[in-house]
Amino acid sequence: MQISIEPLAADARKPFPQNLTFGKYFSDRMFTQKWTAEQGWYDAKIGPYGPFTLDPSTAVFHYAQEIFEGTKAYRRPDGNINLFRPWENIKRFNRSATRMAMQQVDPEEHLEAIVQLVTLEHEWVPNQDGASLYIRPALIATEPALGVHASHSYLHFIILSPVGPYFATGFNPVPVYISDDYVRAVRGGVGDAKTGGNYAASLYVSEQVKELGYQQVLWLDAAERRYVEEVGSMNIAFVYGDKRIVTPALSGSILPGITRDSVLKLAPDLGYTIEEARLEVSDILRDLAKGEITEAFGLGTAAVVAPVSKFGYKEKEYVVGGGESGPVAKQLFQTLTDIQYGRVADPYDWTLTIKV
Ligand SMILES: Cc1ncc(COP(=O)(O)O)c(C=O)c1O
Repeated sequence: MQISIEPLAADARKPFPQNLTFGKYFSDRMFTQKWTAEQGWYDAKIGPYGPFTLDPSTAVFHYAQEIFEGTKAYRRPDGNINLFRPWENIKRFNRSATRMAMQQVDPEEHLEAIVQLVTLEHEWVPNQDGASLYIRPALIATEPALGVHASHSYLHFIILSPVGPYFATGFNPVPVYISDDYVRAVRGGVGDAKTGGNYAASLYVSEQVKELGYQQVLWLDAAERRYVEEVGSMNIAFVYGDKRIVTPALSGSILPGITRDSVLKLAPDLGYTIEEARLEVSDILRDLAKGEITEAFGLGTAAVVAPVSKFGYKEKEYVVGGGESGPVAKQLFQTLTDIQYGRVADPYDWTLTIKV
């Protein structure tokens, strides 16, 4: 694939933002590429970041045929840049594409697009401790026609957003409400695809629990509201005692997280046992009340590890580990981020270094 690089006008360069938050600022350039059945993938280019012009009838606006990914570029101590397991995000992107009846991207070309874009935009990778450059690839259905069918044309794009440390003042455990009424995703549906509709479906409940004083929602399985699935847009894990970690087994309605998978691989090397199992919410609440569960945390690219302070369920509250973050969350966070930022050797071959 030949990616054409369009020049960037001097006045198209934005100043680097002072206070980084999540997803508010975007770098100067973006990658775009189009697909039609006749031409296949074509017109791959990196040009100035800016709006698209799309017909009001465009399929994505009406039938939500779209997918996305989320990964990060990290500034290494030597000034170069690390990507973390980008191959896994590409595989998930294409699995999501298949589930949503969309055209897959070429994995090599997609990675090349990310590497070229991040290389050109390397000054947007923050130096600040705990900050990073969030990479957001997306694929949208662009056919300008109404009627429910798989689109005959697609737009693939990648944008970059410098983001601050998720926990600016150290770990900040969050209160989580267990939703018994509403669900995020159903088995056989699209919960294991990274598609916008799953997130749209979560918004109403997320807003409701905020009014109750909670920050995130814990999702149960849709059929029985009996099994623990995910927390917010993260996978979830619980710690029993101080050496046993358990996480829900992938069910078809859980997004297979790359952070979760990384913890499954590295936890045994840190001396933990880790199990994937069907976790009944009633057992989890009982074990929390008995103090057998000492920690609970979300796992995902944005926060890496996000400790839970307490769970609310049917008007009762269950405090986790005295409401403080625990040592397992801290160790997993430290170990993963040390690898991501290239502060330690990477024994798992998870990182791809871009020399700048
Ligand atoms: C619904 C959902 N679950 C889990 C995750 C965690 O996945 P990852 O660790 O790959 O970021 C994400 C974030 O991508 C998500 O959106």
